[in-house]
Parts: sequence; C-alpha cells; structure tokens
Amino acid sequence: MKTRIFADKNMQIGRVNDHLFGSFIEHLGRAIYTGIYEPGHPCADKNGFRTDVIELIKELNVSIVRYPGGNFLSGYDWEDGIGPKEERPTRLDLAWQTIEDNRFGTDEFIDWCRTAGVEPMLAVNLGTGRPKDAGNLIEYCNFPGGTHYSDLRKKYGHPEPHGVKYWCLGNEMDGPWQICHLDAEDYGKKALETAKIMRWIDPEIKLIACGSSGAEMPTYPEWDRIVLEHLYDHVDYISMHRYYWQQDDLHDFFASYKDMDDFIQTIRATCDYVKAKKRSRKVMKISFDEWNVWYQNKQEPAGWVKAPHILEDIYSVKDALVFSGMLNTLINNCDRVEIACFAQMVNVIAPIFTEKGGRVIRQATFYPFAEASNHGRGHALKTITESPTFASKYGEVKWVSDAIVYNEEKQEIAVFLVNYGPESVDLQLELRSFGKIELIEHKMMQDDDIEAKNSFENPDRVVLKPGAIVDINDCILTTILEPRSYHVLRCRYKL
Ligand code: AHR
Repeated sequence: MKTRIFADKNMQIGRVNDHLFGSFIEHLGRAIYTGIYEPGHPCADKNGFRTDVIELIKELNVSIVRYPGGNFLSGYDWEDGIGPKEERPTRLDLAWQTIEDNRFGTDEFIDWCRTAGVEPMLAVNLGTGRPKDAGNLIEYCNFPGGTHYSDLRKKYGHPEPHGVKYWCLGNEMDGPWQICHLDAEDYGKKALETAKIMRWIDPEIKLIACGSSGAEMPTYPEWDRIVLEHLYDHVDYISMHRYYWQQDDLHDFFASYKDMDDFIQTIRATCDYVKAKKRSRKVMKISFDEWNVWYQNKQEPAGWVKAPHILEDIYSVKDALVFSGMLNTLINNCDRVEIACFAQMVNVIAPIFTEKGGRVIRQATFYPFAEASNHGRGHALKTITESPTFASKYGEVKWVSDAIVYNEEKQEIAVFLVNYGPESVDLQLELRSFGKIELIEHKMMQDDDIEAKNSFENPDRVVLKPGAIVDINDCILTTILEPRSYHVLRCRYKL
C-alpha cells in the first residue's frame, strides 16, 4: 500500500497551544488517593504527593490539569475540602457511589500543581451548587485578602492568591447521569448568572461553558447552539468530551479519529452560526477537556468505599493507535481547539498506573502523548494525504492518520503517523520549502500482538522502538510504516 503526504511550511493550520497537552484528574477511584496523593508512600514528599508519579507527569510534559471533576463535581461542596484535615467531613459521593473523606481539596490541588509544574484548571459545581458557591470559591482562590473567603485561604496557609485563570462552568450538564442535570435553557441561564458573579470578582479569568458530552447525545448539537446563545459574550470556550472503545468492529474503532474530527467540525460550525447570529467578532474557542479510549462497558459497581479500583483500564497497542489518531485530530484542529485534556491522568483510564504503596508504570498510551507533547509544539501544517481508505460506520477513512508540526525556534519538524492497515505502507513524505532536511530520529510502536499491554510484571512490553530506515532526497522522505503501527519522525531543517 502506498501513501503520499504533502506539506508546505507556508501552509499552516495555526499555532499549537501549549494547553492542547493538558490532562484531567477527578475524585474518582484511585486517581487522587493512591494515585497522585499517598501520604506514607516511600516516594511521597512532605505533602503526601507521590514524586514517582510527578516524575512521569513531567515526562509527559503535561501543561494544564482540570480538577476536581467530572461527574463528582456536580455533588461537590468545595468547602468540605479546605481547612484542617481532621475536621473535614466524610461524604457520600453520589456520582461514583463511593466514600469521599476530603483529605485532598482545592489547596492541596494547587500545591500539587506548583510541585508538578502544571497550570490548574478548576471547575465549579453547577449541579447541586449555587452561583453564589462558585463566587465564594473564586473569592477564596483569587481575591488578595481582607474578605471572609480570601482571609480563610490565608488562615489555611496560603497568603498569596492562587491566581487560577481557567474555570469550567460545571461538567457535562447535558447528561441525564449528572447530579441535578439541566436542560440547555436552564443550564444557559444558570451558567450566565454564575459567570457574571465570577467575573465581577476576577475579570481576568477565562471561562469554559459545558458543550455536548459526546456526538451520540440526543441533544447534540442543539445543546451547544442554545448554550452559546445564552453565553456567547460571557465565555471564552465551549467544552467537548469524547471517549471511544472497541465495540464490535475493529475498523470502526480505528475510524475514531475521523469521527472526532467530524464532531469538532460540527461544533466549530455551531459556534460560527451563533457568532453570525449575534453579529459578533469574537471567535469561540474549544476546550476538548475530556478525551480518551475508555471501555465504558466494563464497569464494576464500586460499593460505598474510599478510592476503589474502578475505571482502571489497561491499554493495549491497539488502544494506543486509536489514542494517537485522536491526538493527530486535535493537532490538526489547533486553530480552534486551544485546550485539550486527556482523561484521566493517573489510574482512572490513564497512561500512568500505580500500585498502592508500590510501583508505577507507563501504559501504552503514555508514549504517543509524551512524543506529541514534547515535540508537537510549534505550528501545525496542513497536509494533503493520498492514502487508500477503509469503510467504517463513520464513512470512508484513510488508513494513515497524520499530523505535522514545525518549530521555528528549534528548526525542527515532527511528523506523527498511524498506519491502521493490516499491510505495510510505503510512505512518501514531501516537505516543501524547508530547505535541507536531516533526520533526528524515527521511532515507532508496533507489535505483532496488537493486544499487547504493559503490566507490573512486564512494564516494558510495549515501548517505542526504532522505526525503519528513512531515505531523504531533497525534501522528500521515504520509509516503511509497518502494519498497525504508530510513528514519530523528527527532522532538523536548514533554510
Ligand atoms: O472521566 C470519567 C467521566 O467521564 C467523567 O467523570 C465525566 O465527566 C465523563 O462522563
């Protein structure tokens, strides 16, 4: 099978925002407790943060982390999670039917972000929460002092404001599973009043409205239109969420990257429709703040316990290929998608997996994220791809998914590719107007068993290995992409 890809330095999609490489962590299962926070663990620092996990988050070069949920958010009272730990209440978490003892809360999260070197992105409860509670939280976090909540923050050990810039107005409020789910009209009104209060307290914040929590939602895309008609002038982003997993057909699963692109194009069009209707000049950006592979059909009931083993998906090479295609789609829409958070970061549908009191491993999805996050910052290029296609429930899809980013400062080009096909691909890559190109490296993920996974016993079963030889002639690169494989080709250029 042959594939030809053309790209030109002057044909850019846009600048890839650093926040495209974000993540998400929720009070859910072992994401926080025994994930990022485990006092008494041999690697825990004085705050109880697992430094072995932080090291891996630094390897992933995660830029921004969304917290505290997720479905958990819609029943969460943020005041339960501040002050002396022994005085914090233990509550029922209705979203995941578990016990929450609030040993980790807003201040711990901010301290953790500073230690891990990531930007915090907080969410306010618009389920059981009132607009006033959101105002109180932003006063606690961002107001300098001299008021009830800002002085409480000082009393609890944080004299300086947390300065949190990014705020989500609720979580998946279109979902009937959400605690105190609303219809689009009611959400639009409640979010608008909340946004006003929050901005009166801190005008510098960036606000994210809840968009559709999946393209399969019956209210999609009407939800997005109605919500934006209420909030267009008051928010900076609309959110999108999307998870894929293999149901029956492998090809449908591989086609996820195409469906994700269709989903983005629809939301983009919906934003632009409302923009035109409002005669606005503002371009609404997208925060794709939950995305991943998630086997939603394999959930065990948790029971009323703290930090149970739930949503602990173990990812295969096949899952990593789908994950990589989704990452390419995000990069290829970087002119509109400014924030993206893979969900979630540790233990719960995550690339990092821990043992309580013990080891930590990288899952298969860890590697493509680390490559994109470390080498995919710069300008994304438009690609013209001539590739055979396969049929799927989402229509015809190219066997090869690609994204190309060049970094002017480093004079580097990074090419991210996935071959979903059962055959090798003879790849020809024409990178026009880059002058002289030399290869830095070609790495790939390929395994004769696409179900291969890492485990504590065999943590390096799935890693990146050297890819095939790359021939470079002028600006034309040729190489082989093995069947069902992920690739990153990095080059240096000299004009
Ligand atoms: O990430 C797991 C869950 O997926 C989140 O709690 C929710 O927002 C989404 O449905």
